[in-house]
Amino acid sequence: MKLSDNKATLAFSNGSPSIELPVYQGAVGPDVIDIRKLYAQTGMFTYDPGFLSTAACQSAITYIDGDKGELLYRGYPIEQLAEKCDYLDTCYLLLKGELPDAKQRADFHKLVTNHTMVHEQMQLFLRGFRRDAHPMAVLTGLVGALSAFYHDSTDVHNAEHREIAAIRLIAKMPTLVAMAYKYGVGQPFMYPKNDLSYAGNFLRMMFGNPCEEYQVNPVLEKALDRIFILHADHEQNASTSTVRLCGSSGTNPFAAIAAGVACLWGPAHGGANEAALNMLEDIQRQGGVAKIGEFVAKVKDKNSSVKLMGFGHRVYKNYDPRAKLMQQTCDDVLQELGLQNDPLFALAKALEKIALEDDYFVQRKLYPNVDFYSGIVQRAIGIPVSLFTGIFALARTVGWIAQLDEMLADPEYKIGRPRQLYTGSPRRDVA
Ligand code: SDX
Repeated sequence: MKLSDNKATLAFSNGSPSIELPVYQGAVGPDVIDIRKLYAQTGMFTYDPGFLSTAACQSAITYIDGDKGELLYRGYPIEQLAEKCDYLDTCYLLLKGELPDAKQRADFHKLVTNHTMVHEQMQLFLRGFRRDAHPMAVLTGLVGALSAFYHDSTDVHNAEHREIAAIRLIAKMPTLVAMAYKYGVGQPFMYPKNDLSYAGNFLRMMFGNPCEEYQVNPVLEKALDRIFILHADHEQNASTSTVRLCGSSGTNPFAAIAAGVACLWGPAHGGANEAALNMLEDIQRQGGVAKIGEFVAKVKDKNSSVKLMGFGHRVYKNYDPRAKLMQQTCDDVLQELGLQNDPLFALAKALEKIALEDDYFVQRKLYPNVDFYSGIVQRAIGIPVSLFTGIFALARTVGWIAQLDEMLADPEYKIGRPRQLYTGSPRRDVA
């Protein structure tokens, strides 16, 4: 980051001395006011619950322009990566900062492929869960449990340890997500198959069985790979910030990523794709397109807590570029599967049209986000609704790792420890 010629002066109406705060510039996007010395100089904290105006770190990984609806991974537009690259190329880019050349690509794909199996005893962890446990509960447990098997790669201050932990997590997440699914449906776990692509291998571990050969459908394989690319990273969102804060204590990468999985589960965040599909199915059950007006009225009614799930975003105040790509992927998959008349897809497009013309949404700059169409395409592929957020976690693991690694590699990083505005009882004595 670069020191700006511009300075911020903080003046107080109570006669306290004003202070000058440095302003820093990044490569692109908003400048930041450096308040690190504010408490020492004024005895006061800033106040920003929800971090609406706070940059918690500097990062060179992902850039979002919310007004333009732009998303760049290491400077490359998401539209071009989704078109010209695959998910493992995107993983390499997020982790190392550049797209791989042919040899780097082949080596990286081979490295990941050779780490896709999990320790055989991981299966015993699943036996402890009820068969109807939510897959995110299972996944949170399984990812945390990985740290029990890899004592050779848990020293976060060792760059080699961080590298092997990154490969293990990227490689094993599909295996763990598929195991959580198979356990829920009572089918045998499928071992990874090294001659398949990352997405093809996941499809086979999910929908294959030991009784017959599984043929990967190339359209579904490409669609799933694109879904992984669209979810790979997204700046300092809630789960990434969780991973950074958790990792800042020096805990092992598996524990930090497990914290990210737990945070992503929430319906306001990664759980929104499950909630959005459930919302569409509810409207469909109640009468479909004819009931959209009634539903939107409920969303606009402040007394109802009904939200249009899959809409709105803290940063995007324009169309989420991922939502556009997801809608296109949805179209491709539905066409391939002969489901082009899928009533839920028609309902989603009608709901989007009505919402985008309604003043309530226009005024609040609420647009579809990545979660609005992702449920429809995953459902068409055969992925159960309860597993949607698990797929999101699978794809976002590389982003969490890249962001964690960037923080740990910064010699200036400190353990995260926010302060508070105390509004409780002043000191008092027990009678
Ligand atoms: C993800 O941060 C990321 O980058 C996340 C993510 C990623 O890749 O990591 O992009 C993934 O989490 C996408 C978002 C998925 N969540 C949802 O789709 C859930 C529904 N969306 C909302 O919960 C909400 O839009 C948030 C949580 C996404 C953003 O909320 P903010 O920025 O805190 O905004 P807000 O809640 O203060 O809303 C501002 C206004 C409010 O109305 P007023 O009080 O001003 O009258 O907009 C309204 C809100 O009530 N509003 C909605 C709405 N979202 C916001 N009203 C109806 N439906 C919605 N979806």
